[in-house]
Amino acid sequence: METKTQRGGLQGLIKNGLRSTKLLEWLRPASGVRWDRERLHQLIQSRLDGRKFIVVSNREPFIHRRDKSGVIQCIRPASGMATALHPIMMASGGTWVAHGAGDADREVVDAQDCVMVPPEAPGYKLRRVWVDPELEKGFYYGLSNEGLWPLCHITFTRPEFRPKDWQAYKEANRLFAEAVLEETQGERALVFIQDYHFCLLPRMLREMGGGRIICAQFWHIPWPNREVFRAFPWGEELLDGLLGNDLLGFHIHYHCQNFLDTVDRSLEARVDTDRSEIARRGHLTRVRPFPISIDFEADSLLAQSAEVQAAMERWFQRLPGLRGRKIGASIERLDYSKGIPQRIHGLEHFFEQHPEWIGKLCFVQIAVPSRDHLASYKAEQEAVDEAVDRVNDRFGTPEWQPVCLLKEHHGPVDMMALHRLADFFMVNSLHDGMNLVAKEFVASRGDERGVLILSHFTGASRELSQAVGVNPYAVEQISAAVSTALTMSPARQQRRMRLMREQVAHQNVYRWAGRLLTAMLRIEHLDDLEEENVPEETFADAA
Ligand code: G6P
Repeated sequence: METKTQRGGLQGLIKNGLRSTKLLEWLRPASGVRWDRERLHQLIQSRLDGRKFIVVSNREPFIHRRDKSGVIQCIRPASGMATALHPIMMASGGTWVAHGAGDADREVVDAQDCVMVPPEAPGYKLRRVWVDPELEKGFYYGLSNEGLWPLCHITFTRPEFRPKDWQAYKEANRLFAEAVLEETQGERALVFIQDYHFCLLPRMLREMGGGRIICAQFWHIPWPNREVFRAFPWGEELLDGLLGNDLLGFHIHYHCQNFLDTVDRSLEARVDTDRSEIARRGHLTRVRPFPISIDFEADSLLAQSAEVQAAMERWFQRLPGLRGRKIGASIERLDYSKGIPQRIHGLEHFFEQHPEWIGKLCFVQIAVPSRDHLASYKAEQEAVDEAVDRVNDRFGTPEWQPVCLLKEHHGPVDMMALHRLADFFMVNSLHDGMNLVAKEFVASRGDERGVLILSHFTGASRELSQAVGVNPYAVEQISAAVSTALTMSPARQQRRMRLMREQVAHQNVYRWAGRLLTAMLRIEHLDDLEEENVPEETFADAA
């Protein structure tokens, strides 16, 4: 229901010179317009109207760590989620609430546990929440990553559901709710929650007095079908938590449908599939697709920079075997959802089928260690090592190794340089909500060369239809895709890359954020807009 303050906010906007027609223009779907940093900035400046903007995630965008010599370093973690949110926070200058996980994190915060980031050009506030190791074990490693991650990524890895992890999950969600409410201080705020670590947070915010909050959550991973979700032992509580949101976003329509269907079969709620809305306990949650993306322009510019040019040369010095050979590449966290052993197996099959390529192709695999306390991740590391050793032993020669495996974190410049060097880039996730690295590869190829091999089971494959598609479980498809990529004519590469670049340039991260924010603002102004007799389809969500 509209409050006095909400109405005041709208009238304030109008008083400030933004007539209602202008407001409607802002709230209209952005399909025809170009979204960029400037437009998002304008939206935030003109529409937030004094509301606080707060992002919540588990993974922080900057981690402070001591290096071997004891010096504090500030690094950016390998997280598609954190990469996507950063430009939006720069545009909004809001507050990002996240788990302070770095060993030097406490040393750099102020008395309120806050630090301005990025260090070189502070643009927004990072509020750190301290989660002690025991709680982290249950909340992050246990329920989030051994429970919800495998449940939602259908990779046939069995999830673990331990009651004590569920308790820790609840407790951690409560800690974050307290931090958010301290930041909002009872004022009007837009709270934008990220991912599967915080299913209970939206309901908690409502119950703990966050009445003036518009709450949205984006689910960065897939949402499974209801049969799979039934395995979750505390499903009703989890869904009820998520239905504390005003808006719930997924990457693709299919995941929205899965969610609506799951709720319909599990809870007492009114599910309106036509309008994609759920009413429960007097509250309405809109469920919408918002395909996430990257800052295409920034990535394209970086790719053309002298810095990246120099880094390309460094790759040849570091891996001399790359010179004079075709180059394939993949970059990701070392995670079983990414299908790394399957890829290496596919390459093995390729060399078997095409011995003429032995000695002529080098494949660079960057696999950044991740969640490595967990048995499933340790097993995946072993599987990757074993697959790489097998291929290298089988086909390698004293001066050539088919696969170079680099299990370490790389900065954006080095990753971009590798994108530019690659004749083909492989993303063969077994399941992935979106996969932003595929889009980064496309953004880096201003030369309109290079072939993207992309799993059918990624959200990105819905947008990048000019990629060479593969079923990551089918070894011969991977092998055939490598062969297609290596023999594709420059003219065909160009045609495909150009179309994919147009798509990513249009469907960029500013559009993602702009549409989400617009949808959040519209929730607050709904009653006013109805007075203007605005037809519902004006706000259709299709981009
Ligand atoms: C995925 C999730 C993010 C997460 C990232 C890295 O992209 O959607 O929420 O931050 O993986 O995983 P980590 O567990 O290291 O944060």
